[in-house]
Amino acid sequence: MNRIAVRTSCVCKGFGEGESRTEVLKEVNFEAQMGELLMLVGPSGCGKTTLLSVIAGTLGVDRGEVEVFDSPLHRLQTKEVTQFRASNIGFIFQQYNLIPTLNCIENVSVPLRIQGATAADAEDKAAAMLETVGLGKRIRHRPNMLSGGQQQRVAIARALVHDPKLIICDEPTAALDSENGARVMEILRGVAARPDRCVIIVTHDNRIFRYADRMTHMEDGRIHHTDNPETGAMERQ
Ligand SMILES: Nc1ncnc2c1ncn2[C@@H]1O[C@H](COP(=O)(O)OP(=O)(O)OP(=O)(O)O)[C@@H](O)[C@H]1O
Ligand SMILES: [Mg+2]
Repeated sequence: MNRIAVRTSCVCKGFGEGESRTEVLKEVNFEAQMGELLMLVGPSGCGKTTLLSVIAGTLGVDRGEVEVFDSPLHRLQTKEVTQFRASNIGFIFQQYNLIPTLNCIENVSVPLRIQGATAADAEDKAAAMLETVGLGKRIRHRPNMLSGGQQQRVAIARALVHDPKLIICDEPTAALDSENGARVMEILRGVAARPDRCVIIVTHDNRIFRYADRMTHMEDGRIHHTDNPETGAMERQ
């Protein structure tokens, strides 16, 4: 079995035209393996969210290759990428991105409904997932009735409910207190412990660094190095 879950090769991505053009990703070579929880760290503005969006296929690249579970996302049509994402990827956004008109259970049901589950089946699974993240008593609340940390946990439940092979998280614990942050990290560690799953987390939160199998450091649109906290080994890119 291929141990590589995600690989980007020489990925370049910029925004804008002419003088206002900014190159954000500069030949990024990134790799995440099956069965690991990889953290991506680096200063604000260095391109972490942009790289996650490229890996999730929500943002196209200007140059380079993006492979997720051997599928070349850079070569697929938009519709194919959308389908691939719906079945394989759970994404926790930096800004939660919950649907304001839907309550918690409806928000968490969305990925299952996209896959064709009936409303009743989807709601059963969504309720169980909300219970797991500690929101069992708030399943009928709408996002504006919840605190930031509670909304974040709904977003986490929505990313995990369809049991995707790749979980991508942008600052999943930023709005959480220590107890709920630890609860979320234990769930994500449980996912990463499975040999056919991969979890990639962007974070500034040093309380959770200890949960990482490896840490990849990014600076100014490039991968600087990756280290393995357990062995102390460092791989320079
Ligand atoms: N859609 C866009 N249009 C123009 N510029 C963008 C766009 N998205 C990102 N950028 C620019 O790309 C750079 C990297 O942004 P990105 O969001 O990837 O950083 P980040 O590392 O996630 O930062 P943070 O830690 O603050 O979340 C920033 O300078 C940002 O202004
Ligand atoms: Mg970001």
